[in-house]
Amino acid sequence: MIDVKGINTWIELSESAYANNLRRFRQMIGSERELSVVVKANAYGHGWAPIARMAVQHGADSFCVHSLPEAQQLRQAGFDQDILIMGHVPLARLAEVVAGNFRLVIYNPETVRQLAELLEGQSGALRMHLKLETGANRQGIDEADLPWFLSQIAAIPGLHLEGAYTHFADIEDTTDHHFAEQQKQRFQRMVKSIRQAGFTLPKLHTACTAATLLFPETHFDLVRLGIGQYGFWPSRETLVSYKIQHNNDIEGLLQPVLTWKTRVSQVKQVAPESSIGYGRTYRTTRASRIAVLPVGYSDGYDRGLSNQGYVLIRGKRAPVRGRICMNLMMVDVTDIPGVKLEDEVVLIGRQGQDAVAADQLASLCGTIHYEIVARLSREIPRIAVP
Ligand SMILES: Cc1ncc(COP(=O)(O)O)c(C=O)c1O
Repeated sequence: MIDVKGINTWIELSESAYANNLRRFRQMIGSERELSVVVKANAYGHGWAPIARMAVQHGADSFCVHSLPEAQQLRQAGFDQDILIMGHVPLARLAEVVAGNFRLVIYNPETVRQLAELLEGQSGALRMHLKLETGANRQGIDEADLPWFLSQIAAIPGLHLEGAYTHFADIEDTTDHHFAEQQKQRFQRMVKSIRQAGFTLPKLHTACTAATLLFPETHFDLVRLGIGQYGFWPSRETLVSYKIQHNNDIEGLLQPVLTWKTRVSQVKQVAPESSIGYGRTYRTTRASRIAVLPVGYSDGYDRGLSNQGYVLIRGKRAPVRGRICMNLMMVDVTDIPGVKLEDEVVLIGRQGQDAVAADQLASLCGTIHYEIVARLSREIPRIAVP
């Protein structure tokens, strides 16, 4: 157990919040469907190791990751659940996918050709999931190219076509879900032709968090649950749509798992008309008390929060003054009596009656909360708390 007295910044992960979130999603999808948690990008910045441990403990069936190294990391840490690699694996490393018994996304002919060579003489050695292009125009197989992929797969005994999936392009950013509906219909059309070609396709999947929350008909055989497991709504539009569907009943549904903390490293008195930080972008208008915090943009506190963000100290908001530095930032504690060296500070999360929400910080600096948490430095210790 890490003693936080000895570190300047750390992230606490609430196990009860995580367990609550997973339980709620399990209730939504039922016991038969596969609940696959998306733990790519260091579990959206939360820390892949503690999150994977909690996920398995609280009912997740399998993992989705982006890269081969992420999948290998999980295996080496002892997780024997299924792991779907959703991003590109360099052709030179496909043998490692077979060796690790991972599920692999397929959308490139070159990958199929390379696998054909690799798997000669083997049967059912690699479980593949076809990524079908339905409108995101990101990774995916166009409908017109599907017959080529199916004929290749049929001819290679080493390949086992386990699943097919797609990803919604416009399900979070809008309350008008007609494009998502079109994507689902394209997906179903393509699935029909795959089945007509003789493949059983036991694992169909389309649902990210927003789809899981809003549209049960997108759940199919497996859901890929990302941001929701961490207790975040994917967007305000998703929240509004859900509230309309459920008569405003969101009581306890999603509870944020992460609290990012630091401690005051200096408190200083600053005269009126003084500037603070690089570029002298902030000028005091009164005698001020400024607290210096040992966190900066290298830790993942976005520089766009310069003169914009706020933190919590003694349960009260302290606004950021001046520019965020690489390892330091300054906040105004003039109106918070008694602030002293090493007082605990909350950068994201709840303290007392108030909270700093990741999506509030995101809108202050023109991004989304996914990015705010995904960019939290890997060097910050993650600590599971009850
Ligand atoms: C293919 C795919 N599926 C599922 C997810 C999870 O999405 P969310 O975090 O909105 O649940 C992602 C996230 O980026 C993704 O790329």
